[in-house]
Amino acid sequence: KDIHIIGVPSDYGQSRRGVDMGPSAIRYAGLKEKLERLGYEVADLGDVPVPTPETRRIEHQKLKYLREVVSVSEALCEKVEGVLKGGHTPVILGGDHSIAIGSLAGIARAGQPFGVIWFDAHGDMNTDETTPSGNIHGMPLAASLGIGHEALTGIGGIRPKVRAENVVLVGARSIDPEERELIRQSGIHVFTMQDVDRRGMDAVMQEAIRIASDGTRGIHLSLDLDALDPMFAPGVGTPVNGGFTYREGHLAMELLAASGKLLSVDVVEVNPILDHRNQTGRMAVELLESLFGKRVM
Ligand code: ARG
Ligand code: MN
Ligand code: MN
Ligand code: MN
Repeated sequence: KDIHIIGVPSDYGQSRRGVDMGPSAIRYAGLKEKLERLGYEVADLGDVPVPTPETRRIEHQKLKYLREVVSVSEALCEKVEGVLKGGHTPVILGGDHSIAIGSLAGIARAGQPFGVIWFDAHGDMNTDETTPSGNIHGMPLAASLGIGHEALTGIGGIRPKVRAENVVLVGARSIDPEERELIRQSGIHVFTMQDVDRRGMDAVMQEAIRIASDGTRGIHLSLDLDALDPMFAPGVGTPVNGGFTYREGHLAMELLAASGKLLSVDVVEVNPILDHRNQTGRMAVELLESLFGKRVM
């Protein structure tokens, strides 16, 4: 199976410039060569076109840059659908986490049902009615489950994209009050950092993989780099202390690799402007190497 890389240089889902440079930073860290060294055929399909933010303005305070998020997501959706229907594995480089709406829409169009493992310090389960920020990167998981504004839930024409029973949030430690209520009502599975502390990453991931693959054709990994502790991934717009260590991150990727269930992955929220000499871009590439089967022996 070949890997097809798709860049999505969009920062429309949050309020700090720089995450639009994420695809460049991850490519610069050697993604293509490193995946090739693992034995894959790798094609870089380039970037989905994204308009320049300085030419746009915010129209809705509770859904900032809605129009732009929708158009970027529709374009990504089409690319992802094509890559999957061609029998290849999409590796999608963000961009902020709002782009995952397009990733999941494209997967849903290529065939349902699928499962999702959402690595994140946050829940990304807000809607325009619960958001404290108006930033759409706090909403993509809700939108993919069919919760929230119809302009977001309708992307790709399939609603919902994924069933709550096959969605697992891993690494959560910063959830907004009303968002917590939505998470409870939705029925998704949540492993907080406390669960990881108490049960260990091994047990948590075995369970997460079981839930996400139960009755599905495979698993999409949505990897927000802020799931990691800021010590290991400082280049993100919304860092939260107390995240995964380097070792836990790699173990999680290795367990997913061993499951053989991976359909697709998006790697989001890498912001080189906030980073130290591309540490976070390099971390993203290292995690992807483990996810695609790199082993010591
Ligand atoms: N919950 C906050 C909000 O809705 C932060 C979301 C952060 N999301 C992310 N993908 N980093 O604004
Ligand atoms: Mn996120
Ligand atoms: Mn996050
Ligand atoms: Mn269940």
